[in-house]
Amino acid sequence: SWTTGNVIDEQVAAIREQVGDKRAICGLSGGVDSAVAAALVQKAIGSQLTCVYVDHGLMRKGETEQVEKDFVAATGVQLKVVDAEERFLTALKGVSDPEEKRKIIGREFIRVFEQAQAEIIADEGPAVEFLVQGTLYPDVVESGGGTGTANIKSHHNVGGLPEDLEFKLIEPLRKLFKDEVRMVGQELGLPEEIVQRQPFPGPGLGIRIVGEVTKERLDLLREADAIAREELTAAGLDRDIWQCPVVLLADVRSVGVQGDGRTYGHPIVLRPVSSEDAMTADWSRLPYDVLAKISTRITNEVRDVNRVVLDVTSKPPGTIEWE
Ligand code: XMP
Repeated sequence: SWTTGNVIDEQVAAIREQVGDKRAICGLSGGVDSAVAAALVQKAIGSQLTCVYVDHGLMRKGETEQVEKDFVAATGVQLKVVDAEERFLTALKGVSDPEEKRKIIGREFIRVFEQAQAEIIADEGPAVEFLVQGTLYPDVVESGGGTGTANIKSHHNVGGLPEDLEFKLIEPLRKLFKDEVRMVGQELGLPEEIVQRQPFPGPGLGIRIVGEVTKERLDLLREADAIAREELTAAGLDRDIWQCPVVLLADVRSVGVQGDGRTYGHPIVLRPVSSEDAMTADWSRLPYDVLAKISTRITNEVRDVNRVVLDVTSKPPGTIEWE
């Protein structure tokens, strides 16, 4: 019968057999899938695995620390963290168009990741043969069902290595659904904050600032987002909502009155949604007192924000993210 214990034992044995005395690398995104896949492979092959985490500076408050400290503490994994905030902010300078932002973030991410990968390979030698991926069963079905033998080409330019180094894939979650992945993660001892994480887009807060992305605006949005998350968790609503993007309308200002005078600040949008698969979604009917608490705290605690608005649009016609 299906138990998380069986799944773990089976996968650990299979990965040990597959990898032998070779080495593997794994990119961590901060999401559930890559974290659980990495933890499983770590359990199987220990120090033969190296993980890479690219900090693009577009993460939410505490997320990078969660990976650096909590994930490492729970798994003992070898982790290479690349601080690429400045590089991303420079690349995003002056850019307001959503698609352009996404393209820039995606491009820079791949560049940084491949460079880190090449450095690991240069250090460890040609024994790095495997790439760990957090592919789930629904991903396999959607892409027509593979056999697990696909190779990914990695382009790099480290002297002495072949032009196209091919990785063999390790995909320990490819028979599992999301809720099963969460159970496996829990059994492996990963912290609740990682295992129960709600979806968060790869481009991060970069696509939750309507307007140009700057360090100052990111810091402001991080504060507002942290308050919203804190209050939703305190109200016990995490399992009731699919996710709740918090968006900064950086190009909009409105008049307000705060403390001893008139203000001219930015609005923050709350976008709580319920959904099964993110293809369609409905706006969540959150209790008014929770919304009130979030609004009061954000306008009191976050500089330059004088208004909080609620997005009451379903998907379609609105997407979940604003960009
Ligand atoms: P939309 O905004 O299209 O989002 O309704 C649907 C779901 O996908 C997430 N999302 C992304 N996830 N990279 C990701 O990994 C992305 O570029 C991206 N864009 C949107 C979004 O948070 C929601 O869960």
